[in-house]
Amino acid sequence: MYVCVCKAITDKELRLAIEEGANTTQSLREKLGCINQCGMCEQQVCEIRDQVVNKNLETALPC
Ligand code: FES
Repeated sequence: MYVCVCKAITDKELRLAIEEGANTTQSLREKLGCINQCGMCEQQVCEIRDQVVNKNLETALPC
């Protein structure tokens, strides 16, 4: 599914970029170019970033 229509960025591309370390809005903006034009994708980009970061935190924590 497209998250950023202006730059044709999908949720898969976004998740991959976050997994690779671009876990701030600014770094995602620089790496993918999302949120750089109309800005309509910002909320969804942030939600997906939070999902991925929180998932990684849960799996990184010891039992
Ligand atoms: S939808 Fe992402 S900048 Fe327009």
